[in-house]
Amino acid sequence: MISTKLDLTGLHASRLSGLLQPAFYVREIPIYGDLVLAPMDSYSDLPFRLICRELGSAMSYTEFVNVVNLQGRGKPQTVTAMKLKYDPTERPMTFQIYGYDEDLLVETAIRLQDLGPDIIDINMGCYVKDIARRGAGSGMLLYPDKIARVFSRLSKSLRVPVTGKIRLGWDDTKRNHVQVAKILEDNGASLIAVHGRTKAQAYQGSADWDAIAEVKQAVKIPVLGNGDVRTVADIARIKAHTGCDGVMIARAAIGNPWIFTRKDRDQVTPAEKIAVMRRHLALNLDFYGAQLGLLLFRKHAARYVQNLTGEEKPRVELFAVNTLAEFDRAVAELEILSRVVEPA
Ligand SMILES: Cc1cc2nc3c(=O)[nH]c(=O)nc-3n(C[C@H](O)[C@H](O)[C@H](O)COP(=O)(O)O)c2cc1C
Repeated sequence: MISTKLDLTGLHASRLSGLLQPAFYVREIPIYGDLVLAPMDSYSDLPFRLICRELGSAMSYTEFVNVVNLQGRGKPQTVTAMKLKYDPTERPMTFQIYGYDEDLLVETAIRLQDLGPDIIDINMGCYVKDIARRGAGSGMLLYPDKIARVFSRLSKSLRVPVTGKIRLGWDDTKRNHVQVAKILEDNGASLIAVHGRTKAQAYQGSADWDAIAEVKQAVKIPVLGNGDVRTVADIARIKAHTGCDGVMIARAAIGNPWIFTRKDRDQVTPAEKIAVMRRHLALNLDFYGAQLGLLLFRKHAARYVQNLTGEEKPRVELFAVNTLAEFDRAVAELEILSRVVEPA
């Protein structure tokens, strides 16, 4: 349990500003908000998820977890266990898992319910070669019958809703997003998140929002549109273009979790950035301990301070901090400098 005090201003603000009605439901679970932080391996850990939730992301997804690492009785160990930890304020909390062995996927999902997630999500989008070519992640898209079996079994045996995150297909010649979406719905899935690229594309080209619209039109369950939402204007554009129920944001949230308050990077003041960075660092220290917490914070720090100031020296100091006190000292210097560049 995280001891650092929670600042729920963003979350409450998003609920109070006309979002008293849920944006959509995952089966019976109301989702209060239309923006969702995407699962991101080595980024969407508990500290970063909390930051995003406090700023308005409407639900939480863990980074993907390999079911092979969850075998055996008892609690999962170390690194994997950390990925499945969550704070009660994150609910609705989704555990995302992947695997190629369908029995293992189903058995693991059933067992994971003991850890209290609200939703289990199956990753069918990961393009990494070693994962996809074994039929896991986006590799599952090559086997629609297997998807049908896995979701049929899961929806019958789980107490919690099951959802899926997909790409558009293996490659351009094997696009099957509409077929897969219908299979998911017919076999009990309660939500589909669609990244508008094929496996072969990885991150090349641009996300095909027309294809996300095709999925939305093909099913009645909620659809999260995902891919290339970089700005607040993009949020409105993807919603208008696809009719999706919510928008899932990955890369654009790194260094700019304020996207969930519908603010672009250049609308966030240096003071706001520093306050959130400090909280993120404190959460990291609390969750991982001093050494690992600092190490893992640095990649976020680099993204937070992008465009903060042209000065190199305080930036370097910010990355080299070893304690919160050192962070405060580096920031004090930054604040003096940032007054010069703070928007009028
Ligand atoms: C560093 C990184 C890690 C990712 N890890 C996962 C993951 O664990 N599970 C998943 O479903 N997608 C993962 N993704 C894909 C994102 O969830 C998302 O589908 C993709 O980045 C497109 O959205 P974006 O254009 O908003 O970045 C990852 C993406 C990035 C950049």
